[in-house]
Amino acid sequence: MSENNVVKFIITRQDSPEEESYTEEFEIPYRANMNVISALMEIRRNPVNAAGKETAPVNWDMNCLEEVCGACSMVVNGKPRQSCTALIDNLEQPIHLEPMKTFPVVRDLIVDRSRMFDSLKKVKAWIPIDGTYDLGPGPRMAENKRQWAYELSKCMTCGVCLEACPNVNNNSEFIGPAAVSQVRLFNSHPTGEMNKEERIESLMGEGGLQDCGNSQNCVQSCPKGIPLTTSIAALNREMTVQSFKSFFGSDK
Ligand code: SF4
Ligand code: FES
Repeated sequence: MSENNVVKFIITRQDSPEEESYTEEFEIPYRANMNVISALMEIRRNPVNAAGKETAPVNWDMNCLEEVCGACSMVVNGKPRQSCTALIDNLEQPIHLEPMKTFPVVRDLIVDRSRMFDSLKKVKAWIPIDGTYDLGPGPRMAENKRQWAYELSKCMTCGVCLEACPNVNNNSEFIGPAAVSQVRLFNSHPTGEMNKEERIESLMGEGGLQDCGNSQNCVQSCPKGIPLTTSIAALNREMTVQSFKSFFGSDK
């Protein structure tokens, strides 16, 4: 139960991408089982700050409300995470909400995660099919491979691992752990495997795996428990093998 039945927030706000950020404090009535999103909804319903002054409603992103879409990422009490699963009862007050710093701010807590989607394009994180005829059920995968590939497929492009990684910032082109792990996922697929070398090649240049500093923050922060450092290690090995193959002029 919260002190005096209120929940206190300090929210970092920014009116547009060009403007300076500032903080604004809010106090809202406590309800059992609230999470950060339901608290933000309450502020939107009654946009009055802690000083009693009417203000613009706080903006944030959300969709699924069950930690599947990745849209609601923000920094809650200093930790990047999904706000839809951040329960008020588990958070120290005042609760600090900030946008992730790795991505440009669109407004208040909304950031532009294009950097992540551009990285997925760079590494060709898809399986090419031409769509002109029925491909049938496709090749079978061994059950143990299917199981770990399924874990990798849970990535929701939320950006939390990029926010946690010290090597992903404005001065670096590093694509970050999520896209690296997607290379491992698509290379493990019997059809996707056909473009395996191309994907590994995309990790070899600037912004690729050489920029990983092995801080291991990513694997600790991922809300889906994706084994990111295992993917990074596996691809480092594959890059070495591919470099040898290229050096000796063999693709076998
Ligand atoms: S790997 Fe995990 S933390 Fe990173 S974008 Fe995917 S789900 Fe989010
Ligand atoms: S709203 Fe989809 S992950 Fe939180």
